[in-house]
Amino acid sequence: MANYPTPHIKASPEDFAETVLMPGDPLRSKFIAENFLQDIVLVNNVRGVQGYTGTYKGQRVSVMASGMGIPSIGIYSYELFNFFGVENILRVGSAGAIQPDIKVRDVVLGMGACTNSHFVDQYHLPGTFSATCSFKLLEKAVENARKLGLRFHVGNILSSDTFYNDNEGVPDGSAMYTAGAWNKMGVMAIEMEAAGLYMNAARAGKNALAICTISDHLLTGEETTAEERQNSFTDMMKLALETAISM
Ligand code: HPA
Repeated sequence: MANYPTPHIKASPEDFAETVLMPGDPLRSKFIAENFLQDIVLVNNVRGVQGYTGTYKGQRVSVMASGMGIPSIGIYSYELFNFFGVENILRVGSAGAIQPDIKVRDVVLGMGACTNSHFVDQYHLPGTFSATCSFKLLEKAVENARKLGLRFHVGNILSSDTFYNDNEGVPDGSAMYTAGAWNKMGVMAIEMEAAGLYMNAARAGKNALAICTISDHLLTGEETTAEERQNSFTDMMKLALETAISM
């Protein structure tokens, strides 16, 4: 592991804990570090992608932003797994629900991640790769979600390359076009990163899980308020941190 610092992470392997929580937003990374961790050290700030290491209930945990989309989480998770010795990455993000029984503020655990991205092409597989989370992380996350009394769902999510879709006949272009076909296949929600993270983990022989809070509903148009987002985000953080320290 001599390939550090990298163009995107100016740190050493010792700077990171075995488990890294990855929100999309760098400010969320700072928020998590400042509100949930003790003895925090800023370990990366290249491009303002803040990475911190601290302790949660006495155990070392890191948190660093992934940015938005598969190309961005693809870079950061690749470097963390392959150059910084990180073993587990827990994505903590938001997603838009596409099933009626999945409500805003619910938590979804991405057991599988479908995608419309071409990230998988690099592996030259003679078929379709099924991007799945780490069972070990999922098992712990389910256990902790039950303990915390959260409303949660486990299943497939869609990691989409587009937030805005050019879509004839649908005024805002974003929702039903993408949702429709995936909804029929039982996919729970749409986000933009999990599949890339899962493929990097698979290739590196490491562990990953995407935990997402439903921030909006693509079927009903329901959205969360800023306050609701903050509260449900806090629940998700506790879930991710408890999972991190049970590894
Ligand atoms: N699409 C993609 N990512 C998202 C969405 C969405 O509708 N909502 C929250 N993250």
